[in-house]
Amino acid sequence: MKKFAFALTAAALTVGAANSYAGEVEVLHWWTSGGEAASINVLKGLMVEEGHTWKDFAVAGGAGESAMTVLKSRAISGNPPASAQIKGPTIQEWGSLGFLTNLDAVAAQGEWDVVLPQVVSDVMKYEGHYVAAPVNVHRVNWMWANPEVFRKSGAELPTSWDQFLVEAEKIKAAGYTPLAHGGQAWQDATLFEAIALEKGVNFYNKAFIAHSDQTLRSQDMIDVFNTFKQVRKYVDVGFSGRDWNVATSMVINGEAAMQIMGDWAKGEFTAANKKAGIDYVCLPAPGTSDSFTFNIDSLAMFKVEGKDNQAAQQDLARLILEPEFQETFNLNKGSIPARLNMPREKFDTCAHASMDSFLASSTTGNLTPSMAHGMSTSSMVQGAIYDVVTNFFNDDSMTAEQAVDKLARAVKASL
Ligand code: GAL
Repeated sequence: MKKFAFALTAAALTVGAANSYAGEVEVLHWWTSGGEAASINVLKGLMVEEGHTWKDFAVAGGAGESAMTVLKSRAISGNPPASAQIKGPTIQEWGSLGFLTNLDAVAAQGEWDVVLPQVVSDVMKYEGHYVAAPVNVHRVNWMWANPEVFRKSGAELPTSWDQFLVEAEKIKAAGYTPLAHGGQAWQDATLFEAIALEKGVNFYNKAFIAHSDQTLRSQDMIDVFNTFKQVRKYVDVGFSGRDWNVATSMVINGEAAMQIMGDWAKGEFTAANKKAGIDYVCLPAPGTSDSFTFNIDSLAMFKVEGKDNQAAQQDLARLILEPEFQETFNLNKGSIPARLNMPREKFDTCAHASMDSFLASSTTGNLTPSMAHGMSTSSMVQGAIYDVVTNFFNDDSMTAEQAVDKLARAVKASL
């Protein structure tokens, strides 16, 4: 049966590439902001050029929490889309439930094992078989700053969280919002992990990958929560429920000085025609210049019926790894190509910094998966961390000591 399925996939792939089959792919994603929509439209355009039909299944909501809920209900009713943006260990969760289809033929043809760094290809496989195609690598530990606001406030760009607090005070006194933030659990977690990362990758990995009880309860973790609460003072009153891209626009239009966000934020600057190094500055989140928290976006492929639709799905996987798509998509998205050895000329200084840091950190051991973006742990543990982090951020009466206790207990209960 397995052999037959493989032969069928390979045949469909060959014929599909010759455009004898025109199928439909339904693609679930949450890329609805300016930069995100421009990026996914690149893939749509390429599929349409191949003669296929693209059925867009966009579920708005940063970091995909709502999209994942919708995906679960579609899968439970036996009708998953052909493809969905799923990341990290969640790919394994869907693979183990038997939903994902085998992409080994298209991967062999495109030499994915050669053109992808292993840290990327490992995530795309379930039990050694490709089931997802990576579109990019996002760096999460970034800070986006408006240089004009810094200048007018007489503040320096901070390179540690202690310095952040000093500079933020000056910016606040000058009448600007120091930190553009949106009050959503995943955004709180993005900020929290950036603060934790300053304690070093070893600490970060013990907390968010190994889930060491001792580390989760450590003095370092108490310090992280305390800093997190202090940083909270520099967020404006209207932050609750704000979308991340609205927070980015506060930096773009000079209302706020900084945002801690992955480099999908750069997609918003690009969509607003702003230039890196001139209109805005990118620099590593304070105290984390040697590290790289990665977030790999990928489209996992679900089992679908019908030769035409299977051919379209295999074409989708093939196109994603092609250099043309990897370049254009990532120029819009703010990320760097997942594919190695891509020409760098069209990318800006932030992307170059990210490319250099990706390579350097992969040799020093400072390349580490983002907890906030579903790369370091199961969705259950991630959800448990989110809850504690966001509750602490929004509850003035909770102490850092109480928070670490809650964190350690919540993580243990979800392992
Ligand atoms: C991340 C995702 C990015 C970006 C961001 C905001 O989790 O990997 O591609 O879309 O959410 O929605």
